[in-house]
Formats: sequence, structure tokens, C-alpha cells
Amino acid sequence: MRYAVTGGAGFIGSNTVDEIVRRGHSVVVLDDLSGGKEENLAEVRNKITFIKGSITDIEIVRKAFHEADYVLHLAARTSVPRSVKDPIETSRVNIDGTLNVLVAARDARVKRVVFAASSSAYGETAELPKTEAMQPSPISPYGVSKFVGELYAQVFGRCYGLENVSLRYFNVFGPRQDPGSPYSGVLSRFITCFLDGAQPVVYGDGEQSRDFTYVENVVQANLLACEAPGASGKVFNIGTGARITLNQTLRLLEQITGKSIAAKYDPPREGDIRDSQADIALGRSILGYDPRVAFEEGLRRTCDWYRAHHKPSPAA
Ligand code: UD1
Repeated sequence: MRYAVTGGAGFIGSNTVDEIVRRGHSVVVLDDLSGGKEENLAEVRNKITFIKGSITDIEIVRKAFHEADYVLHLAARTSVPRSVKDPIETSRVNIDGTLNVLVAARDARVKRVVFAASSSAYGETAELPKTEAMQPSPISPYGVSKFVGELYAQVFGRCYGLENVSLRYFNVFGPRQDPGSPYSGVLSRFITCFLDGAQPVVYGDGEQSRDFTYVENVVQANLLACEAPGASGKVFNIGTGARITLNQTLRLLEQITGKSIAAKYDPPREGDIRDSQADIALGRSILGYDPRVAFEEGLRRTCDWYRAHHKPSPAA
């Protein structure tokens, strides 16, 4: 099979590409390296085709999808606060870019597009866990952009017969998540603070909770979603089904690293949701999704990875 992966040099994308290569398939990566890094593909570099370019340029997207069977669309601006600061840029990449991906996938007659959607589409729901039957109600420009991507994917199914699956990822973490910006995923920030002996910053009281999902589980979901019968046109939660507060993650990191570091508590961030937890029954039954790596095990593996790969910041 031939896969095309947008955002394939990024955190989730490169982990997915590794698995595709391990399974012996061919893969074209399209990435503009705005968030991704070529070094994420170092181990597979001579086994893949890499195209440097943005999903906002439809001609390069067409080139990347030539003769592809499956498109995994993971390229995006991924940060909630960044979208609050610059909603136009988030929309340009996440909405206009997704539209380019869908048009190019339709014209290349690919078998299916799998779209990296987001649990942020739900916004604040009164009930937990969140099920796909709940009405989405995003509370950030990022959440809007990801929800619009799903709607577009489904409409391309209806209007043009393009098979599509949207996966609402819940707070993915693991090796290669870039901790280097204030917009980075919280666990990448916390873990590298512990390793550097720096003070982690918590936005709010730390009692907000997330269904943190180890990247290997998400890679499994991505590949199942390409081929699962009966999945097209549907949206699936991809999480673990549990949730944990930021304060709890800090206590766990103290245990794992053997260090005790008091966090600094700053005001909450705009656009932040309070609690997030996935109901994953639908994905289990239709995709055969089974998150085998539990949170704590994933956290340990991630700490090990940063220990081996993270260079302490000079300030630490
Ligand atoms: C994350 C993802 C987003 C994804 C969504 C749902 C990232 C960067 N964002 O958004 O792409 O679609 O989950 O799966 O991966 N926080 C701190 N200190 C920090 C950083 C963050 O306290 O240094 C707090 C935030 O205010 C928030 C929580 O940690 O309450 C999680 O933040 P973040 O990791 O940015 O993820 P989400 O905003 O949940």
C-alpha cells in the first residue's frame, strides 16, 4: 500500500511514518517543517519520499498524493493558545489547508482520508466522558478549525464519495513531542522541566484534567482507521477512557524522576477547557482500537526518551 502523510515530520506524524515503514509499506511525507523536524525521520529517511512543502499550496499537495492509496492528514497548527492569539493563521492552515488536502485526495482518487481531528471540538460538556453523540461546541479558534475539518471531510464523502474518517485525538504525548515553545503540549514541558531542574508552570489551579494518550495508541488508531470497514464518514474519539489532573501528573513525575520541584501557578489560559475524558466504545467496536499503553507506562517511556534525547536549555 502507498500512504501519504501530511505533517509526517511532526510528533504524531513521524511516529506514524515509522510504523508504516516497519510494516513494509511505501510512504510520502509532506511537511513544511514549521513544527516538524527532519531529524524525526532520521531512522527511515532512505525508505521514504520526503517533500518539503505546505498544505496551503495545493499543487504540492497534489504532487504528494499522486498514486496514494491512503492519506493521513496530520499537518496542522496544533496549539489552542496560539489560535487565540492568531486565529487567521490557524484557520489558514487548519481549515484552508484541510480543504486543499480533501480536493487533492478526491482528484487523486485515494481510497480514504484519515483526518487528525481533536477533542477540543467538544468544548466544555456538562457530562464526562465525552461521546461522539454529543453536540460539539468548541470554545477556541483551534477547536473550531478542527471541527470544520471534520465537517468538510464528511461533506466530501457525501458530495464526491471520498471515504473519510476523523479521529478526535485526546491530548497525545510521547517521544518527539517538541517541548521547545510555550505552545507545546503540557507533558513535554513538565517532563523536560523535571529533567532540567527547572520550575514547571501550571496555568490555573492544576485541577484541570485530561485524557492523556500515549502516541503509540494513536498510531495504532491511525492505521486501523485507513482500512476498517464501516468507518467511513464517522468520527471517533481516540483517548484512553481515563483522565488525570495536572497536579497528579506532577506528583507522578516526582516519583518517576525522584526529584521534588514545586510548580509555579499562573492564571488560566484563554480558550482552555476544564476537563476532558474520552468514551472510546465506538472506536473499540468499529475500528478495533485498543489503547494498550496505559498512562503511567507511557509517561515512563516518555521520560526515558527525553533523558536520552533532550538537551537541557542553557538557562537551566
Ligand atoms: C491539546 C493539544 C491539541 C489537541 C488537544 C485535544 C498540544 C499543544 N495541544 O490541547 O492539539 O487537539 O489537546 O487533544 O498538544 N498547561 C500548563 N502548563 C504548561 C502548558 C500547558 O499548565 O506549560 C495547561 C494548559 O493550560 C491546559 C493543559 O495544561 O490546561 C493542557 O494544555 P496543552 O498541553 O496545551 O493541551 P490542550 O490545550 O488540552
